[in-house]
Amino acid sequence: MHVEQWRRVAVVDIGYSSARLGFAGEDPQVVDGLPGLLRYGGKALDFDSSAVQAVFRKLSAQDGCRRPLLLSEPATSAEKTRLRCLLAELSFEALEAPEVSTLSSALLATLARGKSNGTVVDIGAGLTSIAPLLNGCVEPECLREQTFAGNALDIMVLDALKSQGVTLSMPSRNLGQANTGMRLAQDIKESICFCAYAPLASLEKPKEYRHRLPDNQEIEVTAFSRQIPEALLTGTVLRGECFFGVPQLASEAILTLPVGASSAGSEVILVGGSSRFVNFKDRLQVALADYLDGRQVKVTQVDNRYASCLGASVAAQLKHPLVRWVTRSEYQEHGSHVFTRL
Ligand SMILES: Nc1ncnc2c1ncn2[C@@H]1O[C@H](COP(=O)(O)OP(=O)(O)OP(=O)(O)O)[C@@H](O)[C@H]1O
Ligand SMILES: [Mg+2]
Repeated sequence: MHVEQWRRVAVVDIGYSSARLGFAGEDPQVVDGLPGLLRYGGKALDFDSSAVQAVFRKLSAQDGCRRPLLLSEPATSAEKTRLRCLLAELSFEALEAPEVSTLSSALLATLARGKSNGTVVDIGAGLTSIAPLLNGCVEPECLREQTFAGNALDIMVLDALKSQGVTLSMPSRNLGQANTGMRLAQDIKESICFCAYAPLASLEKPKEYRHRLPDNQEIEVTAFSRQIPEALLTGTVLRGECFFGVPQLASEAILTLPVGASSAGSEVILVGGSSRFVNFKDRLQVALADYLDGRQVKVTQVDNRYASCLGASVAAQLKHPLVRWVTRSEYQEHGSHVFTRL
């Protein structure tokens, strides 16, 4: 293994709902419509290897195949090493990458903020993870994660509409009926739902507001538009699974930091598509102050929609020995096992 200086590096960031790929220093291309690309379930973590290969083929078509490849990996503790080895093996086999490395998506998010300390709160599509980092390293005993994120909110939208007698299952040529319903629920969530400026319990009930869907069904929006994102703050129970809420998970993570690691808890770096609800950042700031008994924590958000890709661009240019590349010949000699040492 040797230490990387600056080169044009290809970057792949795989999530539950999409993959982001491209080259360090450039805006990533988003490959959408691959639900379940990365799968989280209880303690298991897996990915759809044919979908990942399709992503690699896209990269290879852009001359990414002969470049060093930097992969983001989830901060999650579940079977991380196994996933890393499989992904790296696939990269060497499917691409002609001369060198491959992986970095945690939480580290990439802190780099995107220009930091090496902080608590990364990533609310994506399949997973909410809280990862405190000190000097670029995730504090493993402080890591908190739950499989409740944007996808769960889409299910809540479907349920809310069902209770109004509305079903979202318009046929589509490209998606199965169930997926079409989820996709429409996701669109409704992203365009209609928002966090109220204060806890819902303290606010008056809003006036009813009716909205007509493209298929002419009418929905009553105020019944769910503020309630659904509120679940991210207060927690909820969905399909028998209890989600504790982001403020509780984040404050637990921060309070578990060992003595001397408190700088990891002074800034919360918010990333992931499901953290983009209007007012969410401010509500999290207030809720954390309550949970942490007035302890000062600043919540910041990485403006760039794809923090991991931005962080990978930073990582690829750092002179600091952060990225440790595994060469093709090392891989051929030791197999994917060499990635367990990264
Ligand atoms: N403006 C928005 N408001 C609310 N939710 C949004 C917004 N934009 C995107 N989302 C949601 O963010 C989720 C996708 O986020 P992201 O791309 O971070 O997930 P991912 O990396 O694919 O998943 P994961 O990190 O769980 O593996 C989807 O559920 C999407 O509906
Ligand atoms: Mg993600």
